[in-house]
Amino acid sequence: MRIIEAKDYADMSRKAAGIIAAQVVLKPECVLGLATGSTPIGAYDRLVEMYEAGDLDFSGVSTANLDEYKGLDRENDQSYYYFMHKHLFDRINIDPVRTNVPNGMEPDSGKECRRYEELIESLGGVDLQLLGLGHNGHIGFNEPAEVFDKETHCVDLTESTIEANKRFFASVDDVPRQAYTMGIGTIMRARKILVVASGEDKAEIVAKAFYGDVTPAVPASILQMHPDVTVVADAAALSKIPR
Ligand code: F6R
Repeated sequence: MRIIEAKDYADMSRKAAGIIAAQVVLKPECVLGLATGSTPIGAYDRLVEMYEAGDLDFSGVSTANLDEYKGLDRENDQSYYYFMHKHLFDRINIDPVRTNVPNGMEPDSGKECRRYEELIESLGGVDLQLLGLGHNGHIGFNEPAEVFDKETHCVDLTESTIEANKRFFASVDDVPRQAYTMGIGTIMRARKILVVASGEDKAEIVAKAFYGDVTPAVPASILQMHPDVTVVADAAALSKIPR
């Protein structure tokens, strides 16, 4: 595991965007696994700037997002589909046909999860998976549990995740209770993983996930077992790691 310390959020975003850009330059037809949440927004902005400057071409790139709320349609401004189009896809020259987000409107969970796993496989797997880190150690919507859920599955969101996400909704009652998410196995099959973390509120979980025990009680801790993980975090998020 490589830990790259950034000064602050802006620096973290530049460094993370640089790693994603390098992947696209080295393999123009790569598959990027993407994340939503507040942490990657700055990195997406930097990628858009590189594209606008003529330094990046996304025309051959395919993407597979980590997760989507079940029950939200694409037009809902809180859906991850909407988020990805707003922050990245509509601002670069990616072919929309090559962008993939789990279909939150598919009511048959088994069917949608199988479809998504097969889709990732048909793309040849994910080259670089971008991840944010939840305060409870979740990655995607893989919440603390007794076992690692391996494949794409439908989850019941925990109270702490509902609480953390309510800032994006009119009220806590509007936060969906279920989501589709890549499983831990799906994430671990990515050839490379890039984790972004920013802010003091992430310091404790960063230390626990990357320096503590590997346990499904802290889902991100499994990343310690992956051969190619880069964590780009700012000084505040790294303030509790053992030095
Ligand atoms: C997003 C996702 C989540 C977030 C995590 C951190 O697609 O799957 O696991 O990465 O909740 O969110 P932020 O970046 O808002 O702190």
